[in-house]
Parts: sequence; structure tokens; C-alpha cells
Amino acid sequence: MFNPKLEKALNAQINAEMWSAYQYLSMATYFHSIGHAGIAHWFEIQFKEEQDHALILYNFLVTRGGRVKLDPIKSVQTDWETPLAAFEDTLKHEKDVTQMINNLYALAIEENDYTVQNRLRWFIDEQIEEEDEAQKIIDSLKLIDGNGLGLYMFDKELGSRTYSTPAPLNSAVE
Ligand code: FEO
Repeated sequence: MFNPKLEKALNAQINAEMWSAYQYLSMATYFHSIGHAGIAHWFEIQFKEEQDHALILYNFLVTRGGRVKLDPIKSVQTDWETPLAAFEDTLKHEKDVTQMINNLYALAIEENDYTVQNRLRWFIDEQIEEEDEAQKIIDSLKLIDGNGLGLYMFDKELGSRTYSTPAPLNSAVE
């Protein structure tokens, strides 16, 4: 039987990843509404990635004989004051997710579950990237400082973001 404490915590993480997906899709629609289709595209990819994160944990639980329980996803914000405010919220949220992953990892250590620890290491690395990307975008938006041409160019740049399936979804053990 899968460790019940870890099962509960992993299910909570699945829910948090699905909430993140929902939040980023909400940001995408906000950026469409203010005419930044490129930034919206960036958040649409972020939406896919968050669903991948949930699916990686889902696959892990299923493979290990755990039970996935899908709770309701709480509502998300729909509007932001500025593009910068949306990315500041993104960074803050990613820092919160990092803390959740750290807590989950600490629990896996406490429960002597090496398989969960191993699975979570991918997420620990992923969070470094997630925070770094959001920080770099914040830095760029601060430099642009509302300049129309700067925002136009930046929107084009974010519009070129590409999506690729994360390695753990190609293999149960990556
Ligand atoms: Fe699933 Fe953006 O962390």
C-alpha cells in the first residue's frame, strides 16, 4: 500500500499544479485582452507545462499503486494592473510552489520513501528554471518601463517560445 501521508501530499501537489495551469491560462487571456498575443502565447505554454507537472505526479502515483484523488480547483484572478504585476504574481507563485515541493521532499525523507525523493528531484530542478524565467521577464519589463516599442519587441520575443514534452512523461523512471 502506498504511504497515506505521501499520497495525500502528492494529491495536494497535483491540485496545486492544476491551479497553476488555470492561473496561467487566466493570465494568457488577460494578455490577449490588452493586445499582447506573444505574451499570451508564453502563458499558454506555461499552462501546458503545469498540466504536465500534474500528469507526472499522476503517473507516478498510478505506477506506485497510489490513488489519485482530484479535488476542486479554486478560482483564479482574472485581471492585473499591468504586465509587470502579472509576472510579479507569477514569480511569487513559483516561489510558493518551490516551498511546497521542498516540504514534500522533507516529508518523503521523514517517511523513508526514496522513490518519492527521486521523483521530486526533477521538480526541484524545474523550480529553479521556473523562478529564473519569471525573474528575467520581470527584469526586462522593468527595463522597458512601459515603452511601447519595447513592449512590442518583447511581445514578439515571448511569442517565439516553444513547447516540448518533459522527459518524465516519456518514461516512468526518468
Ligand atoms: Fe509546476 Fe510552475 O511549477
